Amino acid sequence: MNRIAVYPGSFDPVTNGHIDIIERAAKIFDAVYVAVIRNPEKSPLFSIDERVGMLKASLKARKKIRIDSFDGLLVEYARAVKATSIIRGLRAVSDFDYEFQMALTNRRMDPSLETIFMMTDYKYSYLSSSLTKEIARLGGSFEGMVPPGVMRKLRSLKERGV
Ligand code: PNS
Repeated sequence: MNRIAVYPGSFDPVTNGHIDIIERAAKIFDAVYVAVIRNPEKSPLFSIDERVGMLKASLKARKKIRIDSFDGLLVEYARAVKATSIIRGLRAVSDFDYEFQMALTNRRMDPSLETIFMMTDYKYSYLSSSLTKEIARLGGSFEGMVPPGVMRKLRSLKERGV
C-alpha cells in the first residue's frame, strides 16, 4: 500500500521547524508532497518560485519527498495526488484554534482525508516564518532558525530594500 501525505503551507520562507516536520513525516509515509500554496490569503514576501526553490535547496534529493505547488482547495489537491493524509505542524496552544477549524472543515469536505498533527523538535517550537522575516528586516541574526540557503535569501532582503 502506498501511504501518501500532503504537507501544505505558505512556506514564506521555509524554516528549520518545517524541515523537521517533513523529515519526520518521511519516516512514516511512502511519499510526502510538500505543497506550497501559490496565492495564500496573506500576501507572501517571496514569490512562488522563490518559496519552492528554497524548499528544494533545503531538502537533499530524497525519493520520498516531492516539492510541489497548488492553488484552490487543499482537499482537491490531496485527491489529485492520491494522498490519504494531511500533515500539519503544531507548535504552541495558540496554533490550535486555527488548526482545529481547518482540520474539521477539510474533513467535512472530504471525510476520507485524515489530518495528522506532528510536533517539531522543541528547539524549533518557537519558530515562525513571520518572525524570521521580521528579524531579517531589522538586521538581527536568524542563525539556526532557517536552512543556509534561506539565510542567504533573508540577508539579501536588506539589499533589495525590503
Ligand atoms: O502555512 P499556512 O499559511 O498556515 O498554510 C495554510 C494552508 C495553505 C494550509 C491553508 O490556507 C489552505 O489549505 N489553503 C487552501 C485553500 C483551502 O483549502 N481552504 C480551506 C481550508 S479549511
